[in-house]
Amino acid sequence: MGNSRKTYIVANWKMNFTPGEASIYLHKLSERVKGARDLQVVLCPSLVSLQPLSLQVSRRQFKLAAQNFYWRDFGAYTGEVAIAQLRGFVDYALVGHSERRHIFCETDKDIREKVAAAVRNDITPILCIGETSDERLMGETDVVIYDQLLGGLSEISKEDIDKVIVAYEPVWAISSTKNARSAAPEEIEDAIKRIRTHISKLYGKNIAEEISVLYGGSVNPSSAAAYLNVEGVDGLLVGGASLIADSFCDIVEIAKGVEK
Ligand code: 13P
Repeated sequence: MGNSRKTYIVANWKMNFTPGEASIYLHKLSERVKGARDLQVVLCPSLVSLQPLSLQVSRRQFKLAAQNFYWRDFGAYTGEVAIAQLRGFVDYALVGHSERRHIFCETDKDIREKVAAAVRNDITPILCIGETSDERLMGETDVVIYDQLLGGLSEISKEDIDKVIVAYEPVWAISSTKNARSAAPEEIEDAIKRIRTHISKLYGKNIAEEISVLYGGSVNPSSAAAYLNVEGVDGLLVGGASLIADSFCDIVEIAKGVEK
């Protein structure tokens, strides 16, 4: 976008790595990933690894993010972890990932409450949105994007919207989806334009230009440069390829070489 926004490379490890494995993997990444100005590398381990990794990580090199949390700050909610309990361990949190929406039936209300809870606790929510393959085939991409943005952001005021990151992750492009296919850069550019248009309607033109929008879905070292060069893309949310040190380090190096 030609301004001074940061580029984000976010590793979503999903339900992989024990705390011991995560620690060894972080050690490996720490030796190989060199930071750069305007580049933020964020790691999303399993909840059980967050506390130990928060003691190990150099926060100048990496930030940590939660993959999930409950939106109430405390109370009788057996088995849940409040984002208030994650303060001090994480700087970011994924919200509305399609696996949460589709496998765990998270509703717009859950997502709206989670975005608000993250902001309330000074943790940056990364609001994930994206249509399924059927929705795209039926020409519903725009309306799905709009509904998910509106649903996720409806508690967020104009003063707080700069504390939110949006990630466009079309479900059909996520590597674990059946018959997944990689998105073409033009498809991503079109969707991200729509996202910024909707944000502009909700919060105004300046905010639409300034908000960080990431792309996720089958990103690997071969596709990373093309995706980062898409107009309006401020970074990548990486699943499968983030579990392999060589691939993830290559993606970070590629991001350093892409002029934003
Ligand atoms: P893949 O990179 O494996 O397609 O996963 C994307 C994703 O869901 C990141 O949140």
